[in-house]
Amino acid sequence: MNYEPQEIEELSQKAQILTEALPYIKRFSGTTVVIKYGGNAISEGPDSLDSFVEDVVLLNFVGIRVVVVHGGGPQIDALLTRLGHSSSFVGGLRVTDAETLESVKMVLLGQVNPLLVSRINQHGALGVGVSGADGSMVLCQPKSITHGFVGEVIKVDASLLESLLVQGRIPVVASIGVGVDGQMYNVNADLVAAELAGALNAEKLVFLTNVEGIRSDASDPKSLLRQLRAFELQRLLESKAVQGGMIPKVEAALAAIGKGVHSVHLLDGRLPHALLLEVFTDQGIGTMLYG
Ligand SMILES: Nc1ncnc2c1ncn2[C@@H]1O[C@H](COP(=O)(O)OP(=O)(O)OP(=O)(O)O)[C@@H](O)[C@H]1O
Ligand SMILES: [Mg+2]
Repeated sequence: MNYEPQEIEELSQKAQILTEALPYIKRFSGTTVVIKYGGNAISEGPDSLDSFVEDVVLLNFVGIRVVVVHGGGPQIDALLTRLGHSSSFVGGLRVTDAETLESVKMVLLGQVNPLLVSRINQHGALGVGVSGADGSMVLCQPKSITHGFVGEVIKVDASLLESLLVQGRIPVVASIGVGVDGQMYNVNADLVAAELAGALNAEKLVFLTNVEGIRSDASDPKSLLRQLRAFELQRLLESKAVQGGMIPKVEAALAAIGKGVHSVHLLDGRLPHALLLEVFTDQGIGTMLYG
């Protein structure tokens, strides 16, 4: 053996990283992890998308049943701007008239979903794109008159996802819901992810967004909360420290814990390999919520 001391050091560091992952792989192999990939994280460019896809495929190859649910906020904004429409938000949810709903469907089903599926499938025929309307997976009713075609989930049927997971596939879910009358709805992807995580008895629900986690002061990055219990997060929500798109995310996180999901993680999906760092290392990198 004629390795330089520096080479030996580098090799041993690599081996250490791989062995640190071993207990986590043993613990989580065979469990279900639902990942919500936020539109804000997706829009950060090809590098962060590539690293996200590698992480998802790696989780699949170590035996974790991965379901991806995606958003598309900035992409929907871009299309609406091109069409000369504007959007308003109430309680962090996009007010959705008939024209906005058309744009939401176009972006989620025609742009973001096939992008993620095709990137995953660069690694093998794993990704299958579905929407919450497929197999009546996400059954909705209108949330309020103000919100228009925003759906409130009344029931989820995860049997379509189960059959894909049994085949070893990675379902990629667009957050469109359907009413009993066949009307399609725009449903916040965080809430869809939480419902599906509950229905699939998921071990974890991971939100990848464009902020490093939940802050106790929305405008102060130093106020990141690393670990908290559901009752503490409920208090934070009531204190108005949580605003905009973080409102449905926190509500979704609490709902998932209420449905028996063991832990919910919120992290910055723009950070390369954020998902692997959170799932497979001792420290974790974002906010972890547990019951
Ligand atoms: N207390 C808080 N801590 C952290 N972020 C907060 C807080 N309150 C509000 N926010 C905002 O919430 C945003 C994340 O929600 P947002 O809906 O914009 O993203 P997303 O859900 O990842 O994307 P998409 O809606 O497209 O799926 C952050 O960019 C941040 O500005
Ligand atoms: Mg959002």
